[in-house]
Amino acid sequence: MSNIFWISLHARSIGTRIQEQGYRGLMLHVDALDTGRHVSHMTIIEFIRAFADDTPVAVVITDTVLESPGPTILYANPAFGALTGRDCTTIVGLTPRFMQGRETRRATLDAFHQALAANKPFHGFLSNYRPDGTRYRVEIDCRPLLSASGKVEHFIAFEREVVRRLGRPALSRAGRYVPAHVSNALLTDALRSMNVFHSNETDQMT
Ligand SMILES: Cc1cc2nc3c(=O)[nH]c(=O)nc-3n(C[C@H](O)[C@H](O)[C@H](O)COP(=O)(O)O)c2cc1C
Repeated sequence: MSNIFWISLHARSIGTRIQEQGYRGLMLHVDALDTGRHVSHMTIIEFIRAFADDTPVAVVITDTVLESPGPTILYANPAFGALTGRDCTTIVGLTPRFMQGRETRRATLDAFHQALAANKPFHGFLSNYRPDGTRYRVEIDCRPLLSASGKVEHFIAFEREVVRRLGRPALSRAGRYVPAHVSNALLTDALRSMNVFHSNETDQMT
């Protein structure tokens, strides 16, 4: 017989100290209720897995060690496996650098590194490679994941493949690309409300 789980979720805006550092977001408090019995503990990765395992958006969570061989991947959803051409269970323990290759732009990686080192979000576009050598362009929206006290505990990235926009010239730098499979219409309401893949002038290009 399968277990039925109820999750009660309370959210409130994160404190002004964190907002001053440039973050927007929600503080989440989760109670998992198992048919009346209170289950008191759930890690943030277990919580995200419950939502991310079925989404078409690639989701990857790492630790916060930036110097090589870090950061280390702690969770990757099946969509991330499909994007990168690997079984997502074999990705855990690797560094996201495994997708990089000859045309992965160093200047964009430097900007990525600087954002992570400053505990700031990063939004940009990179060329990455699958194990068979095919190159793909990926849009990356990476953010620090904070504990309730505001300490950065992990990084999370939302990723999707993009292709060059055909025809008329781009209106903005980010407008050079369009999503290959995962259009904005496929984003969940939760991802839309977090402004995932919402581009701005500081975007990093390939
Ligand atoms: C959550 C997360 C996801 C990442 N995803 C990618 C990715 O898909 N492709 C990529 O080339 N780099 C990705 N990176 C960036 C690399 O891990 C690394 O930070 C980048 O190469 C800059 O560091 P470096 O200057 O030490 O190489 C990701 C980093 C984090 C924290």
